[in-house]
Amino acid sequence: MIIRKFNPNDLKRVFEIENSSFDQSYGMKMFQQLYEMGIGFLVAEHEGYVIGYVMFWVKYEFNGHIISIAVDEKYRRLGAGTQLLVKAISILSLLNLDTIFLEVNENNTGAIEFYKKFNFKQDRVVPKYYSNGDGAIVMYLPLAGKVSSE
Ligand SMILES: CC(C)(COP(=O)(O)OP(=O)(O)OC[C@H]1O[C@@H](n2cnc3c(N)ncnc32)[C@H](O)[C@@H]1OP(=O)(O)O)[C@@H](O)C(=O)NCCC(=O)NCCS
Repeated sequence: MIIRKFNPNDLKRVFEIENSSFDQSYGMKMFQQLYEMGIGFLVAEHEGYVIGYVMFWVKYEFNGHIISIAVDEKYRRLGAGTQLLVKAISILSLLNLDTIFLEVNENNTGAIEFYKKFNFKQDRVVPKYYSNGDGAIVMYLPLAGKVSSE
């Protein structure tokens, strides 16, 4: 498995993974726009086939943000999510940021466990964050031993 930069040829496949992984999708056009904006965008490739992706950026001056991460269901629990997240964290760590934030559906216990494994801590719950009424848990990973508020 390799982790490499996203390129526009991956768009359809990444959308397929995202669309089948979440109830609510960003949509293919949004992916294209985020890519054109220059966000961090990596894919995991196994034998020439894209099996996962991660998107991240710097949200405010000192905060990194994981926008979205997903692995094709058939390839989960094989370490692809770990490789994607570790690479995203290591790139964001080069930018002298205080903290990496992300939002996760409060009912998504698998992803919450996944993030805890990387020392992400639970911050606050944002009620009705998602359009289906589910709340989000904000999780954060301090990078410089200090947590700044968003
Ligand atoms: C979350 C996600 C990206 C993890 O990807 P993955 O490739 O399966 O993750 P890994 O194989 O690297 O898992 C690493 C560790 O995280 C934990 N973990 C991952 N998925 C888990 C789950 N469903 N339940 C409990 N722990 C889990 C485990 O400790 C796992 O190690 P193990 O397999 O040796 O027990 C994947 O489950 C996914 O795409 N989910 C749907 C989309 C999603 O929820 N994204 C996050 C939204 S914020």
